[in-house]
Amino acid sequence: MENAKRIRFGDATFQIFDGVYEPAEDSYLIARYMDVRGHVLDMGAGCGILSVLAASKARRVLAVDINPKAARCVRFNAKINGVSEKVDVLVGDLFNPLREGRTFDVILFNAPYLPSDDAGRLEWIDYAWSGGKSGREVIDRFLREIPKYLKMDGKLFLVQSSLSNIKETLKSLRRSGFDARIIAEEESFFERIILIEANRRADAN
Ligand SMILES: C[S@@+](CC[C@H](N)C(=O)[O-])C[C@H]1O[C@@H](n2cnc3c(N)ncnc32)[C@H](O)[C@@H]1O
Repeated sequence: MENAKRIRFGDATFQIFDGVYEPAEDSYLIARYMDVRGHVLDMGAGCGILSVLAASKARRVLAVDINPKAARCVRFNAKINGVSEKVDVLVGDLFNPLREGRTFDVILFNAPYLPSDDAGRLEWIDYAWSGGKSGREVIDRFLREIPKYLKMDGKLFLVQSSLSNIKETLKSLRRSGFDARIIAEEESFFERIILIEANRRADAN
């Protein structure tokens, strides 16, 4: 058994394995406001908090994380919360492990959004927060792919921080034919964490 810290959210319990992101304000913001149904993609699943919570309403959840320790942690937490039948887990970089043409009703992403100057190789835990020099490297790659993987009437819930250019995210989504707006936010000492909801504009269909 790996070293693990235990946390609770509502009726659910989560073990946080070493090297896996421990849910924080950003996780709780999306957990409180996400509205899920049908087939859900939990991108960057971490310990699986969003996957496990989504599984109570969704038909099926696919959790993806680049960190193999996170993938093990999601499987463990899905099991102890009695939802492993509904939660599949894949390891990989963003949409790479998915077959093209696979689409989702809801996509969730609490993205790594902090600007960082990683000179060397990252530890697994660093992937949880490092958004490269601009803070937007993972977000921008994600935004380029999203139109292919979201159903026509699907919804995206994306968390990021004021430290990594929120306006650019809203602009990029609008350019790709989405209505995008901030639906919740939280001020912290040095940043504003925001939750964006986006769905395709009717005139873009
Ligand atoms: C801020 S944490 C969020 C974890 C969890 N969803 C939560 O809300 O607590 C971001 C997660 O994204 C994962 N991640 C970072 N870059 C990724 C990439 N390119 N592809 C897939 N997952 C990635 C990290 O390993 C980390 O688990």
